[in-house]
Amino acid sequence: MTTVSDKSLFVVFEGIDGSGKTTLINNVISLLSQERINSVSLREPTSGPHGKKIRSLLCMAEEPDANILLDLFMADRLEDASLNIIPALKSGNIVLLDRYYYSTAAYQSKNFSEAKDIINRNRSLNLPEPDILFFLDIDPDIAYNRVASREKNNNLECFETPTRLRLIDSIYREIIPDNTVAIDAALSPDETAKQVYMHIKDYIVP
Ligand code: TYD
Repeated sequence: MTTVSDKSLFVVFEGIDGSGKTTLINNVISLLSQERINSVSLREPTSGPHGKKIRSLLCMAEEPDANILLDLFMADRLEDASLNIIPALKSGNIVLLDRYYYSTAAYQSKNFSEAKDIINRNRSLNLPEPDILFFLDIDPDIAYNRVASREKNNNLECFETPTRLRLIDSIYREIIPDNTVAIDAALSPDETAKQVYMHIKDYIVP
């Protein structure tokens, strides 16, 4: 645990595409702000130069080179840590981060051993460790249907196949630490936000 300020809290959200992380984070921010608790929300890939490059590669018809992608995700994360995450924690903020190195391990690997290797590589970068890690627990087929209808409505068709999502989900479940907080993503948005909020409050209320 990297506690950079007494009041800071580093909260990470992980889960497959369609698990509802973005909605959940927005709802948690609203609940926190109702209590006048300031939070900073960040996401990876970032909107910085590496993040932009990553997003352009993710939607290519031809699959990008796995090693190039892995290096880009790690470079993006190092930059995110030094420019965004660490300064926000140092200022005593609650940082809510949408995806961290568990995403890289689950998405840029094909099996448990590759995933573990990616986790070790990320941990060797001296990145801040999450105080709380939330994992959105959802059936990959339901998540796939959510993303498919959302993307089709936006005329975008750039997303994982059901088989890929099932593999990513199974790797996630093998690599997340025992103290990860699983959130049932089939619950209503209000309920999932309330659960996350209660966990966060447990950390910040003395
Ligand atoms: P994004 O549009 O941010 O999706 P989401 O809202 O689901 O996070 O795209 C991020 C995509 O990048 C998502 O499909 C997961 C993938 N990704 C990786 O493959 N490796 C990583 O390390 C990270 C952070 C994301």
